[in-house]
Amino acid sequence: MRTIRIEASTGYDVVIGEGLRAGSGERIAALGGNARTAMIVSDDTVYGLYGGPVRESIERAGLVARSFVFEHGERNKNLAAYGKLLEAMAEERMTRDDLVVALGGGVTGDLAGFAAATYRRGIRFVQIPTTLLAAVDSSVGGKTGVDLPNGKNQAGCFWQPSLVLIDPETLRTLPDGEYRAGCAEVIKYGMIGSEELFRAVSETPVRERFAPVIDACVRMKRDLVEADEFDRGERMKLNFGHTFGHAAEFLSGYRLPHGFAVAAGMAAVTRAAVPYGYCGEETLEALLECLERYGLPAAIPYGADAMREAVLSDKKASGGAVRLVVPERIGSVRIVTAGTEELPAWLARGGVGTKDLSHLPDCKGV
Ligand SMILES: NC(=O)c1ccc[n+]([C@@H]2O[C@H](COP(=O)([O-])OP(=O)(O)OC[C@H]3O[C@@H](n4cnc5c(N)ncnc54)[C@H](O)[C@@H]3O)[C@@H](O)[C@H]2O)c1
Repeated sequence: MRTIRIEASTGYDVVIGEGLRAGSGERIAALGGNARTAMIVSDDTVYGLYGGPVRESIERAGLVARSFVFEHGERNKNLAAYGKLLEAMAEERMTRDDLVVALGGGVTGDLAGFAAATYRRGIRFVQIPTTLLAAVDSSVGGKTGVDLPNGKNQAGCFWQPSLVLIDPETLRTLPDGEYRAGCAEVIKYGMIGSEELFRAVSETPVRERFAPVIDACVRMKRDLVEADEFDRGERMKLNFGHTFGHAAEFLSGYRLPHGFAVAAGMAAVTRAAVPYGYCGEETLEALLECLERYGLPAAIPYGADAMREAVLSDKKASGGAVRLVVPERIGSVRIVTAGTEELPAWLARGGVGTKDLSHLPDCKGV
């Protein structure tokens, strides 16, 4: 069992351990604070797999367990699902002492966290991530929200969980594509801050060492969140690959999994970083090799104009400028501000809309 303490505006533990879900109720009840009801929020797939044991564990610990189950998929991380969840919480007469339990991937965590943050001006929530992506990234750090018709995560707020329980055993039932999507975020951590992690996952598949890999990523996220909880500086490094990735995800109508979009986004921005002189060719080569090893896309299959529009409507663009996270070498990135007029050149250098890259795997086929 590994425990990592996060000291943000609310301090909390991230606990990593095989089989942890069976004792989740006890740990949730141990948070105290007069909670009576725990609302388990989960998508239909995850609830079918893990809802029963978590619910039983919560009830065994003396809490009333209720559930809100929605149809899986990013397309349901929206205002409609958010509204229904708030109403379900109100119908259960949940009080400010009660808790929300997010059992699932990043979609569930973002949706449940946003509802917890806003129900009666904020109640506690617990994250039980069941995807690799959620374990290494979205369950820690307190970013919550839903998508709006014009872009991802456009409504949301910062609201830290009270506890994060990561049971690597649950990752064994992930479909291959979801596993690989999570590996994209792991590769991202290596690129932004740990050459050691990057080399380790380049050599040994992540699924052979889930717990130590998750541990390494959560520690990196802890450091970034503690330094910059509200994403004004250092924490933005976590957005490596996301500026172009979010735009591609949006253009795909959210059919493209987040991790695949991030992989293609990391490849594009690194490809552009070489001619701009931010990093050498060897950095790009190492990244492309690693993406290939995990069967991840290395090209964005959308045109430059559509991508430009989508990048500009994303919230990472502000005040006539776009912030790009750009690699300097494996394990180190910097934040570069590009004027919106420079964006077409970045996209072109990133190979967006270029036929030359048609030999590379892109995200269309996933
Ligand atoms: N809040 C943050 O800091 C943050 C960071 C990164 C990403 N995100 C968000 O996370 C979301 C992506 O998360 P995701 O990739 O986990 O997507 P997801 O929650 O949709 O899960 C992916 C799929 O895997 C299924 N699934 C989940 N766990 C499973 C398991 N153990 N076994 C079998 N199937 C399982 C789900 O039903 C779903 O169909 C995006 O909305 C993204 O914006 C948020």
